[in-house]
Amino acid sequence: MDDQIITIERHIVEQEREYPEATGVFSNLLYDIALAGKIIAREMARAGLVGTLGSTGEMNIQREEQMKLDVFANQTIIRMNSFTGRLAAMASEEREDVIDIPRGYGTGKYVLVFDPLDGSSNIDINATVGTIFGVYRRRSEEGPGTIADCLQKGRHTVAAGYIIYGSSTMMVYTTGKGVHGFTLDSGVGEFLLSHPDLRIPNTPRYSSVNHAYEAFRSEGAKRFGRWLQGIDEEDPREPLSERYFGALVADFHRTLLKGGIFYYPADSRYPEGKLRLVYEANPLAFIVEEAGGYASDGLQNILDVEPRDLHQRTPLFIGDRVLVEKAEQFIAKFD
Ligand code: AHG
Ligand code: MN
Ligand code: MN
Repeated sequence: MDDQIITIERHIVEQEREYPEATGVFSNLLYDIALAGKIIAREMARAGLVGTLGSTGEMNIQREEQMKLDVFANQTIIRMNSFTGRLAAMASEEREDVIDIPRGYGTGKYVLVFDPLDGSSNIDINATVGTIFGVYRRRSEEGPGTIADCLQKGRHTVAAGYIIYGSSTMMVYTTGKGVHGFTLDSGVGEFLLSHPDLRIPNTPRYSSVNHAYEAFRSEGAKRFGRWLQGIDEEDPREPLSERYFGALVADFHRTLLKGGIFYYPADSRYPEGKLRLVYEANPLAFIVEEAGGYASDGLQNILDVEPRDLHQRTPLFIGDRVLVEKAEQFIAKFD
């Protein structure tokens, strides 16, 4: 029978069963992330009514405006995961340092890195935002987790996913055995399997980039943009249609489902790129590769970049393998 109703809980447990050495800790960790996502989705849905829209008036450690829901989402994930004994440490886009497990609560073998609310400038206009996460196995032996536990190559990811708060709330995750999407049935409060085995379509449909910053970009990135638009004189092609939410999760989700490319190159305002390697690029790179796509910083596979700093930024080209490799070629040739 193939019309089963499969909850995310059951799906996670069944995926973990494929690893004979599994203890269940990992399943519970993923389930807790899904639960945090449900709490954030609920808060977001009523934010306009209870005064939680808008800015806190503070800057976060990225020197970007912090929204009240950034803070709420960050706290929710921390409160959900600090006391379970499953994690050695966490790292969040909204916190400068590694987040330690409180004294007196046990530490476990995993590390969780996350962007609690991605695309938060979309909140006030009721447009799509999301949460991005990655899970690694700790490297240190025991006791409190260290920064080195959080600074692992994307290649070492054991689970990655995102929750997208759009016209419905969805969670998409992978443990390296396919990419699976679940839609929240908010009436019963369960994520139900709606998109099993997601594969990025072979035919690219959309390109996604912020053209406002074109003038600040390198020759290679500019030329690549023109090529996508079909206005490269040496190599004309049909232009790809464009979409841009300004929320990486949403732009990525569309790219994964419909095919195409999202990119945010380095520019003279952000010489290292704008997006964060640990919380944004790596989890999505792991997902896209598992779905048959590719992610690059323009020079190499994102998953092979050795992170030096928790808040390190990176250029990102992600989606259709052929298009991302084409971006690498433009950068190699002109930069
Ligand atoms: P965050 O809200 O977590 O700080 O991320 C914002 C990011 C990302 O989601 C998006 O793709 C990008 O900023 C948009 O940047 P521009 O406004 O420069 O296009
Ligand atoms: Mn973000
Ligand atoms: Mn964020």
